[in-house]
Amino acid sequence: MYVCLCEAITDKQIRNATRKYQVTSLKGLRQILPVGRECGKCIKQTREILAEELLRLEVLCTVDVA
Ligand code: FES
Repeated sequence: MYVCLCEAITDKQIRNATRKYQVTSLKGLRQILPVGRECGKCIKQTREILAEELLRLEVLCTVDVA
């Protein structure tokens, strides 16, 4: 699903970048993907996806340790 229509960025790209580059902030994500550089309407949803992905990674790390 497209999150950023201006830059044609999908939720999958955001999730992949978060995992691959170990992004922990919107600022860090924006160094990899040009999300939110135009109208900015996608910022809120991008933050939500980033937070979901970070939570998922945290849970996976916890499961690996256990
Ligand atoms: S929808 Fe992302 S910058 Fe416009």
